[in-house]
Amino acid sequence: MTRRYPGLVALDGVDLEIGDGEAVAVTGPSGSGKSTVLHLVGGMDRPDEGAIEVDYVELTARRLDAHRRRIGFVFQRFHLLPALTVLDNVLAPVLPRRVDFDRRARAMELLGAVGLAARADALPSELSGGQQQRVATARALINRPGVLLADEPTGNLDSATGREIIDLLLSLRERYGMTLLLTTHDPEVAVSCDRIVRLHDGRIVADERIAPDDDVFDRLGGLRP
Ligand SMILES: Nc1ncnc2c1ncn2[C@@H]1O[C@H](COP(=O)(O)OP(=O)(O)O)[C@@H](O)[C@H]1O
Ligand SMILES: [Mg+2]
Repeated sequence: MTRRYPGLVALDGVDLEIGDGEAVAVTGPSGSGKSTVLHLVGGMDRPDEGAIEVDYVELTARRLDAHRRRIGFVFQRFHLLPALTVLDNVLAPVLPRRVDFDRRARAMELLGAVGLAARADALPSELSGGQQQRVATARALINRPGVLLADEPTGNLDSATGREIIDLLLSLRERYGMTLLLTTHDPEVAVSCDRIVRLHDGRIVADERIAPDDDVFDRLGGLRP
């Protein structure tokens, strides 16, 4: 797929196939097109050329709304609503909609899954950054998405807390049977995924599958911190 902006090609013929249940890290320098990939896969942006297929179904304009509800999105800056409690933040995406499940029960289940059931009535400002990212993750799962997208989910966290968030995302992927696609600058985050796709100037310059216990740092020289 290709995405252009005036005077700039943000993504230049990127061709990427991601398997069901895979955890893929998109890396690359700032401006290389990482966020653009996530926005296109998430249906928040449209390619100028090429197509995106999810579960073998092409993402056409009329399918975008339904598609956006079937993916979860986690951001670098959490984007919690400050006036709402933790529980209401998790519920926020489904409050205006009719849904076929018990919203509150599901939100509490998800808060349990991210280890924050006891903080349901807290305000985001009463939580640490790592806890706020856990809430944002629970919120992203309220529609039981098959695909979880996370754009620099550890970018605002210290490395130990970032590690916890990545471990959480990977364990939630297993628990709920999701495909995980994240972007990161952090080589340690990237190597904990199954696969690393490196972008440069909107093109894929490396696509490496990571075997367990592989010393990937030795092979991907430039990645070592
Ligand atoms: N809305 C936009 N308008 C113009 N240029 C944009 C827009 N969004 C992204 N870009 C440009 O596209 C390129 C890729 O951006 P992005 O995907 O955000 O990169 P990354 O996430 O790797 O830092 C950058 O050069 C960026 O400036
Ligand atoms: Mg980005």
